[in-house]
Amino acid sequence: MNAETKIRPPFDAARERAPFDVARIREDFPILSQMVHGKQLVFLDSAASAQKPRAVIAAMTSAMETQYANVHRGLHWMSERTSDAYEGVRDKVAALINAPSRAEIVFTRNTTESINLVAHSYGRGILKPGQAVLITAMEHHANIVPWQMLRDAHGVELRVAPITDAGELDMEGFAKCLEDGRVGLVAVTHMSNVLGTYLPIQRIAALTHAAGAQLLVDGSQAVVHRAVDVQALGADFYVFTGHKLYGPTGIGVLWARRALLDAMPPFMGGGDMIGSVSFERSTWAEVPHKFEAGTPAILEAIGLGAAIDYVNAVGMDAISAHESALTDHAIAKLSEIDGLTIIGRAQDRGGVISFTMDGAHAHDVATLLDRNGIAVRAGQHCAEPLMRRLGLSSTARASFGIYTTPEEIDFLAATLVRVRSFFQ
Ligand code: ALA
Repeated sequence: MNAETKIRPPFDAARERAPFDVARIREDFPILSQMVHGKQLVFLDSAASAQKPRAVIAAMTSAMETQYANVHRGLHWMSERTSDAYEGVRDKVAALINAPSRAEIVFTRNTTESINLVAHSYGRGILKPGQAVLITAMEHHANIVPWQMLRDAHGVELRVAPITDAGELDMEGFAKCLEDGRVGLVAVTHMSNVLGTYLPIQRIAALTHAAGAQLLVDGSQAVVHRAVDVQALGADFYVFTGHKLYGPTGIGVLWARRALLDAMPPFMGGGDMIGSVSFERSTWAEVPHKFEAGTPAILEAIGLGAAIDYVNAVGMDAISAHESALTDHAIAKLSEIDGLTIIGRAQDRGGVISFTMDGAHAHDVATLLDRNGIAVRAGQHCAEPLMRRLGLSSTARASFGIYTTPEEIDFLAATLVRVRSFFQ
């Protein structure tokens, strides 16, 4: 028996269009049967990084066991097959977000690298000193710090649009930030990793374009929970990471309109991103390769491709409906707990719920939950300025995924009641 025949058939071959069955889905995630501190693992930290289905693990293992070489470099069979597999993932990503062209999909290491690429290449290459970059008060550090670095190196201004106490974007305040016509780029999250808020991207895009600016959307959280159509959204750049989408770490995506990618100078120099090289000068490869210097994350891209197949086989609409019901259930259950406050009450929100507990530090809450097998994140969630805006030092955060069950939410709520009495 060779390695390929040992691998379980991929999810989609077996169950395409099957009704959403969370128990069946959980069987695809081997880690979920683990015990932690003698208790059944309840993994409520998918917003930080999601668990991986067997199809992803198998695709990466199979590539290493049967079809692996460097890409774009060799004329031999192995290299050609690996190049086809790697490039095939570009098509899957383009289809996932409805990009008009596969050439507009650039592979990076993660969302952070995608935003740094734009800050470097678009920021330094296209934006002029004196122009401004506009972000919001609910951004992750990955969508703040690269713009600060650009500001300090290139003389652009960094503006921050306000949010409401409910954790939504203050649209009037946002529009005001655009009024003087100096904003060249707006960079906003699609879904807050702390508040769960979805931003109204189409309205933001209309205002951004009316002001003559381009729009970058950080889709790290949203792309996991909702069908994304970059054309319908009206984005100019859309970035996300593979590891939250049930794929491996080390692979991220930048989508941008072709005209922008063509106009932008490269980010990093090296092999594979060039047309020709002499000691006097070099020319660049066509996009997307112009932005992919060096040996790329081949295996990780293959894993991402398998993750996209998996999500497609389950169906993004079914995933959204499942997670939306879980979120409503969780908000109802947690709202009943005396002394617990849910942070963020946006109308349009997803399965990321931050909360505080009177008399208890979020780290202590998370530690006691962990003793019961429940994994949540606690702290500032890489969003220190948002915490300051909310007047908080930290929150605990439960976040849901394709495999989360209502019973896990009930167990979280029951355990939080016990944690609360402990602190009382
Ligand atoms: N951005 C990830 C989170 O929100 C790491 O946890």
